[in-house]
Amino acid sequence: MGRFEGRVAIVTGGGSGLGRATARLLAEEGAPVGVLDLAADAADAVAAEIVDAGGSASAFACDVSDPGSVEAAVAAVAAGLGRPQMLVNSAGIGGFSRSEEEDPVRWAAIVAVNLTGTFLMCRFTLPHLLDGGGTIVNIASNAGLMGQPFSAAYCASKGGVINLTRALAVEYVDQGVRVNAVAPGGMRTPLTKGFRLPEDADLDLLRPVMSKLGVSEPEEVAACVAYVASDDARYMVGSIVSIDGGLVAYGGGFPKPKE
Ligand SMILES: NC(=O)c1ccc[n+]([C@@H]2O[C@H](COP(=O)([O-])OP(=O)(O)OC[C@H]3O[C@@H](n4cnc5c(N)ncnc54)[C@H](O)[C@@H]3O)[C@@H](O)[C@H]2O)c1
Repeated sequence: MGRFEGRVAIVTGGGSGLGRATARLLAEEGAPVGVLDLAADAADAVAAEIVDAGGSASAFACDVSDPGSVEAAVAAVAAGLGRPQMLVNSAGIGGFSRSEEEDPVRWAAIVAVNLTGTFLMCRFTLPHLLDGGGTIVNIASNAGLMGQPFSAAYCASKGGVINLTRALAVEYVDQGVRVNAVAPGGMRTPLTKGFRLPEDADLDLLRPVMSKLGVSEPEEVAACVAYVASDDARYMVGSIVSIDGGLVAYGGGFPKPKE
């Protein structure tokens, strides 16, 4: 019997990368999964993969930055699959820019998806979690725990996710709802494919955010998310779990490679 037998999970950004890997793993271990994504086709494809593999899943189109869309999607999961007991907030966007050139519209979009979107999903899922217990795992980033150049909006949004996690964790600690965050470093996903560094960017500034171990596979991080969501992590409350190849631990940054 899997760790999540019959426990309904909602995974945002479930159509790609870490969200996809997490949705597949939770389903493999028995969870009926609501796969939420702005990209409806991608959510459909992942739900179909899960069903083909013998699991249970349904896809729901959802823009996490839109309160009406979030409310409707959470209600649809509850009506279609049953009471949500787990929420994984993996939807996210980003991009590089010099801060003095950042487009205020893009700043607002990054904060709206990464931070406000995470809050809205918690806001509308919490009533279900409180009705019998549950858990939330927010996906933060090493960029929420350290400075990353050319990424002010992303860093600010992920820093916000980290303290949002702590705030919710203490608010609900005695009401049967555990809230934690997982903070990955670089993962091999489509997220960064469209990122372009500003012209003449000093690459040395980026060395501290590049692990000696390269990037992780999303499946490795999904395994960490599943542990945090499982009952084995009963005593884990408000934790920010780094899985980043040593980036935050190193602090000062990895030294230059030998010439
Ligand atoms: N890839 C990395 O190197 C890395 C590192 C640290 C943290 N993270 C975080 O991990 C999480 C997952 O990222 P990923 O690498 O799997 O990226 P990804 O691009 O592969 O997946 C993100 C998914 O979120 C969806 N999405 C975007 N905007 C949305 C919206 N408004 N509403 C609903 N869904 C939306 C996208 O359609 C996509 O399917 C993100 O929160 C990201 O910030 C990623």
